[in-house]
Amino acid sequence: MKYTKLGNSDLNVSRICMGCMGFGDAGKGQHSWTLDEEQSKAIIKRGLDLGVNFFDTAIAYQSGTSEQYLGRSLKDLARREDVVVATKFLPRTPEEIEKGISGQQHVENMINMSLNNLGMEYVDLYIYHMWDWNTPVYEILEGLNNAVKAGKTRYIGISNCFAWQIAKANALAEKEGFAKFVSVQGHYNLIFREEEREMVPYCKEENIALTPYSALASGRLSRLPGEGGTKRAEEDKYAKFKYEKTEQQDNVIISRVAEIAEKRGVTMTEVSLAWLLTKVTSPVVGATKMHHIEGAAKAVELELTAEEITYLEEPYVPHVLAGVMAQNKRPE
Ligand SMILES: NC(=O)c1ccc[n+]([C@@H]2O[C@H](COP(=O)([O-])OP(=O)(O)OC[C@H]3O[C@@H](n4cnc5c(N)ncnc54)[C@H](OP(=O)(O)O)[C@@H]3O)[C@@H](O)[C@H]2O)c1
Repeated sequence: MKYTKLGNSDLNVSRICMGCMGFGDAGKGQHSWTLDEEQSKAIIKRGLDLGVNFFDTAIAYQSGTSEQYLGRSLKDLARREDVVVATKFLPRTPEEIEKGISGQQHVENMINMSLNNLGMEYVDLYIYHMWDWNTPVYEILEGLNNAVKAGKTRYIGISNCFAWQIAKANALAEKEGFAKFVSVQGHYNLIFREEEREMVPYCKEENIALTPYSALASGRLSRLPGEGGTKRAEEDKYAKFKYEKTEQQDNVIISRVAEIAEKRGVTMTEVSLAWLLTKVTSPVVGATKMHHIEGAAKAVELELTAEEITYLEEPYVPHVLAGVMAQNKRPE
């Protein structure tokens, strides 16, 4: 494994971050394909053995059970100071708004719940999961700053935002003397490269870490079209919805990944992640089988040539926004 600094923080993170959305009680949330606690722990252990020290979860994942499984596993398997734990909070609900709960109070309630789920005194990175159009950004930032001051999180990050949103938030944080976002978790992979126009250059300019999610397009960049038939491939309706409209154009790129993998004698996963590793700090990779995390860890060793990178990038055409980012607009 290789390690690097997470943007402007002093967190030393593995170049692969283990995505924990696939861990949690399958009866308690959005996904029916998640692993139970014992299976989750085994994957986490394999990740740790391979040198992964960076873990990404969220209160939204299977109603907090992903956080619970991760927290209990890490307690048994690692020293707290040796791992970097990130979790995320959701926007205020209409009920909270109705009750007059401020953005500051919301952030405090959410982090208290997450710390309770994780069984930890602090997280290393607390991530604003998606832009909350119904709450002033000042309230979110002050709430986050309070969490930093209280020692509940060491740093803050943001996910699913436009470059103008983080630029606006960080400028306000700087003016107010609040903690600034040190990382962005956006949707970025070889077949979804919309981050490249504004976010990638902005983050480079500001030394903000990119830790993209769905780094393998939820498995599409790990196998040829039509291959697979895994539980997740069958049941993950959300991922299908994200990628089905652009399948034809994406398959051109996926077949180029396969071509290079064959030539280099490596897996498609390794090629896809090795490409992303040339652009970002640490991709967040989902693992629900041992070979998933093993394949991801191997990718860190693969160096693509400039010609291979060009060949992979050449067929990309801009995509319409999909998933959470398609909803990132002011409510009517
Ligand atoms: N911030 C956000 O809004 C957001 C949104 C989504 C995800 N995330 C985070 O990002 C993480 C990853 O997201 P994701 O699971 O959608 O994306 P992903 O990493 O693109 O996809 C993971 C899937 O790829 C396949 N795979 C992984 N490693 C493989 C290997 N070595 N060989 C073959 N296949 C492999 C598996 O699919 P099969 O199971 O089909 O084999 C696995 O379930 C999540 O766990 C979560 O932490 C964040």
